[in-house]
Amino acid sequence: MAGELSPIDKAKFVAAKRAAQYVEDGMRVGLGTGSTAAWLVRCLGEMVRDDGLRIKGVPTSSRTAELARAVGIEVISLDEAKWLDLTIDGADEFDGDLNLIKGGGGALLQEKIVATASDQMVVIADVGKEVETLGAFPLPVEVIPFGWQTTQALIEETLISMDVLGRRSTLRMSGDVPYITDEGNHILDLHMNRIGNARQLALVVNQMPGVVENGLFIDICDAVVIGYGDGRVEVRDINDGTVATERLDFVEADNLFSDLSD
Ligand code: A5P
Repeated sequence: MAGELSPIDKAKFVAAKRAAQYVEDGMRVGLGTGSTAAWLVRCLGEMVRDDGLRIKGVPTSSRTAELARAVGIEVISLDEAKWLDLTIDGADEFDGDLNLIKGGGGALLQEKIVATASDQMVVIADVGKEVETLGAFPLPVEVIPFGWQTTQALIEETLISMDVLGRRSTLRMSGDVPYITDEGNHILDLHMNRIGNARQLALVVNQMPGVVENGLFIDICDAVVIGYGDGRVEVRDINDGTVATERLDFVEADNLFSDLSD
């Protein structure tokens, strides 16, 4: 069954499978959103079911909450957990300092709150997510619906003085209607091509009225687990300064592949 996965899905799966090793009995774990994080949730569900792993999961979206419950993970709110041992989530881009762009799946707000409330954040990604400089992926910015076009104009105007290569922005759509986040907001995607100073941009964008949060995760991620289509995984830990490579096999997790929807 695993042989039917595309190389990119294999890469996402092995990254998730390796990252699941960070999870220990009794932990409160932030559960990310997106296709890679969905593999992680399935892996953890299998560990709960087959190995008796006891964890409490704090999902970062309604989609992840639904999947976590479906695979048997106990779900609690962040307010119930208060603080988390670990969050594991995907990313749209990561650079050499493990700064990230997130929010391609529209869940950046809960993702940032949950990751920031964790002792450790581990990102899981296929190797295609690595970039030298952030910004090829459009930066998602969550804005409140009231006056969103004014907020958009203000953002585009502010980008003139920032170290970026483009300043066009688009309203995220869901079919014919604006995409609505779990918090009832909209998302503007900023097409900047290259972000010269991500730290500064993150601060400036968040100062604007109408902006709720942006998808730049600066100094939040502790380690990245990078998956390759041939089953290799590379683990980079920014705190220890270590890089380790290993190979995982797919066979043992065949039963995870029955539901590939996300
Ligand atoms: C969700 O809002 C995002 O931050 C995702 O974590 C990110 O888009 C990565 O998603 P994939 O794992 O589906 O590529």
